[in-house]
Amino acid sequence: MATQSRIAVARTLQIVFGEGERVPDGWDAGLASGDAGLANALLGHCLRRWGTLQAHCRPQFRNPARGVPLGTQVALAIGLAQLAWLEGVTDHAAVNEAVDLAGDRDLGFPPHRGLVNAILRRAGRDRAALRATLDAMDPALDRTPFAELALKAALYPRGQGGAREVLWKRLQAPPQPFFRALGPAPDTLLPVDGVPGALQLAPGADFPREWLASGRGMVQDLSSQALLAFAWGGSPRTVLDACAAPGGKTTALARRFPEAALTALEKNPERAARLKENLRARGVEAEVVVDDAGPWMRRPGPAFDLILLDAPCTGSGTLRKHPELTWIGPSIDRPRMRAVQRDLLEAAVTRLAPGGLLVYAVCSWLSEEGQDHRDWLLARPGLAPVAAWPAGMGAEDGPTAFFRPDPLTWPGEGFQAFAFTRTLES
Ligand SMILES: C[S@@+](CC[C@H](N)C(=O)[O-])C[C@H]1O[C@@H](n2cnc3c(N)ncnc32)[C@H](O)[C@@H]1O
Repeated sequence: MATQSRIAVARTLQIVFGEGERVPDGWDAGLASGDAGLANALLGHCLRRWGTLQAHCRPQFRNPARGVPLGTQVALAIGLAQLAWLEGVTDHAAVNEAVDLAGDRDLGFPPHRGLVNAILRRAGRDRAALRATLDAMDPALDRTPFAELALKAALYPRGQGGAREVLWKRLQAPPQPFFRALGPAPDTLLPVDGVPGALQLAPGADFPREWLASGRGMVQDLSSQALLAFAWGGSPRTVLDACAAPGGKTTALARRFPEAALTALEKNPERAARLKENLRARGVEAEVVVDDAGPWMRRPGPAFDLILLDAPCTGSGTLRKHPELTWIGPSIDRPRMRAVQRDLLEAAVTRLAPGGLLVYAVCSWLSEEGQDHRDWLLARPGLAPVAAWPAGMGAEDGPTAFFRPDPLTWPGEGFQAFAFTRTLES
């Protein structure tokens, strides 16, 4: 029988490719830490190289045009990825466990053991050659129209040419983790230049599992940390985090503005429960409201001095961290997403106090989710941009009101954010 780590990877690939859903939060939660490390590496390779792995197998099927059922594709991908890229896994484990997966009734995989065994044994005869063959295949096999759109948007208005392949290579590497201390930090974590408070692993250091589990620190992407370091002279009495779960940015806002009354809105009840749990564990005091932020913000109520709208988005800037988005991105309803963002933004403006600051952010490179909303909004009277981020975080030479770090050099996820105020006389 296959080990729990391979079964967890197989189930997750079924969810992504069978149901078109994102990798569920906590998909590896039941695994011991060594197994979780293997499972994460394996899932990453399968998701990043799914097109290549399938293209390698297809000519070996009896009927390449018809292909094989998803369960068989998953078993093959899991076996091949281990043989090619996970040197610590023996041939025996890679092949036999994939063959076991192929007949796994609980997973509902068809009993194509013979086919999986034959393809993997052939591939395992020379693992270095297998790796070289897979790595020499066309990188476009692992991209969808959504990934192409994300690349184009990320590089706009730069010439696309060679930069596209350079960026794609960067996005295919596993993401670098960044951290934020909530208490004393281990000396295996080092500061990141230019982003106050951000921490990264010292060369060769182990991932600080115990420190994170103890509540003394959290993982937070570098872009989130940099955008939350916005410069603003105000000292808000009231702060609204309009789309808050799982609460990384709520936590950062609470620590930065400890005197302010903080309200955190979240529409999804399950995510709201996680938000509450995270805030409780971190000792953050906030009123958590489970509601749709659009209607909630439009109801009569007090204005806020500071509003963060970290809006739902396509996630096109997070292909490195969430490689499954490459595959499920094409089915995202982008016009609906744009409409939701605009509605939330319009509602948030109604609750912004004169002289207050509103920061809108999305982890996407698509201008339809960031820049276009900014242009539309700032054409209105009574709102003015605030240059809240230092030089280097946007396209301008100096401080910028539009946060959009360069995807070719910046190690964090792709984000767009803009900051504006309601002018006092409006
Ligand atoms: C980008 S995530 C927020 C991440 C969070 N700010 C953090 O840093 O941890 C967007 C969140 O908004 C929630 N959401 C989506 N539409 C919403 C709405 N209309 N009202 C309130 N929350 C919403 C989603 O469920 C999701 O948890």
